[in-house]
Amino acid sequence: MLIKEIDYGTPAPQQPRSCGNGTCGCASGAKLDAHADTVMVTLEIDGNTVTVPQGTSIMRAAMELGTQIPKLCATDSIEAFGSCRLCVVEIEGRRGTPASCTTPVEPNLKVWTQTGKLAKLRRNVMELYISDHPLDCLTCAANGDCELQDMAGAVGLREVRYGFDGANHFDKPTDQSNPYFTFDPTKCIVCSRCVRACEEVQGTFALTIDGRGFASMVSPGQAEPFLESECVSCGACIQACPTATLMENSVIEAGQPEHSVVTTCAYCGVGCSFKAEMRGNEVVRMMPYKDGKANHGHSCVKGRFAWGYATHKDRITKPMIRAKITDPWKEVSWEEAINHAASEFKRIQKTHGRMSVGGITSSRCTNEETYLVQKLIRAAFGTNNVDTCARVCHSPTGYGLATTLGTSAGTQDFDSVEEVDVVMVIGANPTDGHPVFASRLKKRLREGAKLIVIDPRRIDMVKTPHVEAEYHLPLKPGTNVAMINAIAHVVVTEGLVNEQYVRERCEIEEFDRWRAFVAEPKNSPEAVEAYTGVKAADVRAAARLYATGGNGGIYYGLGVTEHSQGSTMVMGMANLAMATGNIGRNGVGINPLRGQNNVQGACDMGSFPHELPGYRHISTEDVRHQFEAAWGVTLEAEPGLRIPNMLDAAIEGTFKGIYIQGEDIAQSDPNIQHVIAGLSAMECACCRVRPSSKKTVPSPMPSVASIACARRCSRRPAMPIGK
Ligand code: SF4
Ligand code: SF4
Ligand code: SF4
Ligand code: FES
Repeated sequence: MLIKEIDYGTPAPQQPRSCGNGTCGCASGAKLDAHADTVMVTLEIDGNTVTVPQGTSIMRAAMELGTQIPKLCATDSIEAFGSCRLCVVEIEGRRGTPASCTTPVEPNLKVWTQTGKLAKLRRNVMELYISDHPLDCLTCAANGDCELQDMAGAVGLREVRYGFDGANHFDKPTDQSNPYFTFDPTKCIVCSRCVRACEEVQGTFALTIDGRGFASMVSPGQAEPFLESECVSCGACIQACPTATLMENSVIEAGQPEHSVVTTCAYCGVGCSFKAEMRGNEVVRMMPYKDGKANHGHSCVKGRFAWGYATHKDRITKPMIRAKITDPWKEVSWEEAINHAASEFKRIQKTHGRMSVGGITSSRCTNEETYLVQKLIRAAFGTNNVDTCARVCHSPTGYGLATTLGTSAGTQDFDSVEEVDVVMVIGANPTDGHPVFASRLKKRLREGAKLIVIDPRRIDMVKTPHVEAEYHLPLKPGTNVAMINAIAHVVVTEGLVNEQYVRERCEIEEFDRWRAFVAEPKNSPEAVEAYTGVKAADVRAAARLYATGGNGGIYYGLGVTEHSQGSTMVMGMANLAMATGNIGRNGVGINPLRGQNNVQGACDMGSFPHELPGYRHISTEDVRHQFEAAWGVTLEAEPGLRIPNMLDAAIEGTFKGIYIQGEDIAQSDPNIQHVIAGLSAMECACCRVRPSSKKTVPSPMPSVASIACARRCSRRPAMPIGK
């Protein structure tokens, strides 16, 4: 059932939501969804007129005018709380001094942010904080990056009238149980930013404020050390902390970073953006990038803390050659390495034929890198023997979505989850596999969206703090297609098809054929129960919820694609989404959760043996001629070998040389023995990994991977290149 058009029409109006990254000014800590309202309000702040959406906080409205109101408990990633009282303002005609972070704008208000009375109040608040603070600024790890220090300066604190002799918290022990960060409660101002970050951003609920009044203290779990609590070390609390109470060990050891470079985490398919914060050429801290489209300033433990490979002693930083796999590596110049690789590939092709070599690209590479590698193989080597790990994990997505929707990409971005009403998670475990996406999904579920989990495993999302699936359908492995057809059966036989959508957007003949097929009794939940092992009543209830519960979004992983019927299942999900009108706007769609950060790009750039960039088939004459004209070469018309075929051919003796970019096939591919046998049978394996020098921003490609690859490669001249 092919959808009629790629242009999905006018998107549905967006639900009010925050930029989530402070760029819209929500750094005020104002309720995040409030300031996207369409009703505008005009007011006066410090004599200047400003117009902002209804629901905006006074603090944020002031920011629009360039006025920074002092604050401590507010920050951009979490809801306003109103506890520190540093952000107080005066409003003409009103009594008291309300907190600007929690007070919304109103028409014609006259607000004053800088008066003598406010200055006195703010200094008083700071005096109270500082009277119970160690004041070891010169030796503190946060010196220079401490909001408490900044605010003391901003309010003009010159003395602490209460002295330092009274009761304090200086005797509280430091918690160093977590390997990545330290918790020093003597510096805590009990602003609750950490607690709220753990709840709102990460969704783990590991922290609480224990005790009351002066005895209030941040407490992981049941007053346990961090490492023994539910904490998953995502670091959101550290990022939110305005003092040195929660601090990365790397910063304690190395000092404050002095410059940063934006980069991408490649541990998983979320593809979070980070600022690699550096001192000279050394990484000090990985800070999730607030403008990152996938993560909006959040991260999981891997991206934030697992970057030791950047300067690991095992990391390859120079090109190396060895004649035999048993020889020691010899470091060589770049010129020698490149000349050696080129002459080896030439020699092999001359001896064994043009098709005796090939290459592999990686989903961790950029689009540009991938494009160049496939071009090298096709245009310079003259063969289509090029493949990628993206095919190993997600070619059913490419084929299934291209067949049904006309394009092989997932239909939504990660932001879309903020508008979903019913989520179907199929064959995926987001909290483990795609943690930052899981945090965003859990947030939406806490807001009231409903969850259906289709997975043999009882994954965390089935029941986790403040999140519980409406339905968990624990199907038997291998029965995905039976399950999706049973759900579709309920939709078509119970009158739940979105007929208008289908009429307007889908190919009716195809649709009718599909409708008739899934309506057959053999596809009913009752009929397939014996195969899936899932109660028919649960399948019916889940199908009704998905079809009628508002925006329905399907998110799926390798539990769908790494099955023999993966493509059929992808088509089944796409058909179900179309039948219910769940394609073409935010909050819906078919969303593959990929294995690495550029699976989509690797496919788009023509990494497959049968497809040129843009999914254009190599055997189509017109297409080939376009590329031949652009590249100035004649292209091979027949599709080339896939990775397993290259390895088979190597073992058979017809494939002799391979160029591998950013990939360790001995880890990615299913049969390691086969990989090792294939590589060992070749005459030259040239492995190229991404920048790995200590002098560069860390690539997420761990050096151990490149070394492992290098060591397994090649019996005859082999050249793993470190750069
Ligand atoms: S590191 Fe993450 S999970 Fe652990 S307490 Fe902080 S916010 Fe919560
Ligand atoms: S640990 Fe930091 S963020 Fe948490 S309450 Fe204390 S000062 Fe605030
Ligand atoms: S969610 Fe994935 S991409 Fe983001 S920090 Fe964690 S491992 Fe890296
Ligand atoms: S910043 Fe408004 S009360 Fe703390």
